Amino acid sequence: MTANNSKSEKLSQATLAVHGGERTDEQPHGAVVSPVFHTATFAFANFDQMRRYARGELTDAYFYSRYANPTVAEAERKIAELEGAAAALVTSSGSAATFCALATLCEAGDEVIASDSIYGGTVKVLTKVFSHLGINTRFVSLDEIPNLAEIAGERSKVFWFETPANPLNRIVDLDMVADVCNQAKLFSVVDNTFASPVLQRPIEHGIDAVMHSATKYLGGHSDLTAGALTGSKEFIDRARQKSVMVGTTLDPAAAYLLSRGMKTVALRVRASCENALALARSLRQHPRVARAYYPGLEDDPGHELASRQMSGFGGVVAIDVVGGELEVEKLFNSLKLVRTAPSLGGVETLASYPLYSSHAGFSDQQLQAAGVSAATVRFAVGIEASVDIIADITQALNNI
Ligand SMILES: Cc1ncc(COP(=O)(O)O)c(C=O)c1O
Repeated sequence: MTANNSKSEKLSQATLAVHGGERTDEQPHGAVVSPVFHTATFAFANFDQMRRYARGELTDAYFYSRYANPTVAEAERKIAELEGAAAALVTSSGSAATFCALATLCEAGDEVIASDSIYGGTVKVLTKVFSHLGINTRFVSLDEIPNLAEIAGERSKVFWFETPANPLNRIVDLDMVADVCNQAKLFSVVDNTFASPVLQRPIEHGIDAVMHSATKYLGGHSDLTAGALTGSKEFIDRARQKSVMVGTTLDPAAAYLLSRGMKTVALRVRASCENALALARSLRQHPRVARAYYPGLEDDPGHELASRQMSGFGGVVAIDVVGGELEVEKLFNSLKLVRTAPSLGGVETLASYPLYSSHAGFSDQQLQAAGVSAATVRFAVGIEASVDIIADITQALNNI
C-alpha cells in the first residue's frame, strides 16, 4: 500500500502480495499497474537541486539507477510488507543479497557461524569469497545450534541458517535461534527462500534479517534472477550502501517482473504446497523410493516444528531412491512433463540432483552433513494439476 498507509500490517498476505508497495496516489493517469522506469539516470531540474542532493538534503530524489530506481523501490516496499520488515533491499540475485549482508556485518578478522544445512552456493560465498577477505566461517550442525553461546568467539558476528533447509527440508526452530543469538550476541540471518514470506515471517520470531533468492517463489516464473534482504532500516541502509558501491543493483525490467510475479505469490505458494503434499504422500508408497523428505508428512522429523512456525509445508519434496546414481539416471531420463533443471519456486515442476547441482564439488564429509547421497533427488513442485505431476514421476520411477 502507500508508504504512509499504516493499515498494511493488518492486511493478509494475499492482499499484501497484490497491493503491497503500491503508491496509487502517484500513478500517472490513474494507471492501475505502475509504469516501468526504464532509465539509467535522472535529470535535476536545476543546479541548486543537484547541490541539495549532493548535500543529502533531498532524500526522496532519484539520481542514478545503480543507487535507486522507482520500479526497484516498489518491489522493495512489497517485499518489506510481505516479510513484516521495516525495510528491504532488492539485488541482482540471491547470492548478491548474501554478499551484501555479509559485507555489511563483518570485517577482516571477524567470524561467521553458519549452519551446515544451507544452500551450496552460500557455502561457496563463505568459503571462496569471504575467507579470502579474512572472514572465516565455522560450520555447525543443526544439533549444535542451541549451544551457539558456547561456540561463539569474541569475533563471531553472524549466525547464518536456512529453514526449511535445502535439499532435505530440515526445519530449524526460529524462536530458539533468536534466543540463542541474543545470548551469543550474534546477528541472525535466515535464508527464507524455501518458505517464502507466505509461509513464514522470521522477523516476527525475533530473527534480525531475512535473505531471499527472489529468483524462486517471489518471482515465481523462472524468468528472472533477483535477491532480497529485509530487516531494520538501519541494517538495510548499510547493506544498500554496499550494494550501490559494488553494483549488485537489480535492473528495472527485472524489478517489474518481480513485482508482477509477487502479486500471485500467495496463490502460487498455496497451490505448490498442496501439490507437494500429494506428491510426497504418493512417493513414500512407491517401492523404488527408500525415503521421502517432506515436513508435511506426519512422521517427518520436522513436522511438529514446521506446523508451529509455518502456515504450510513448502513446495519442495526430496526422496532417496532405492539404489544410487544409475537408478537416478533412469528416473531422470524417463521424466516427460517434469524437466531436469536447478532452481525452485516457479510454476513448473522441476527435478534436480543435488550431487550435480546445489551440492556439486562438496566433500564426502560435507555431503554427509547435508544428508545428500547419490540416491537423493529433489523435486521443486509447481502448480500444474497434482494428478499429472504424480503420474509423470510415478511412471519414471516404474522405469527404474
Ligand atoms: C535456498 C537458496 N538460497 C540462495 C540461493 C541463491 O540465489 P540466486 O541463485 O538467486 O543467486 C539459492 C539458489 O538456488 C537457493 O536455493
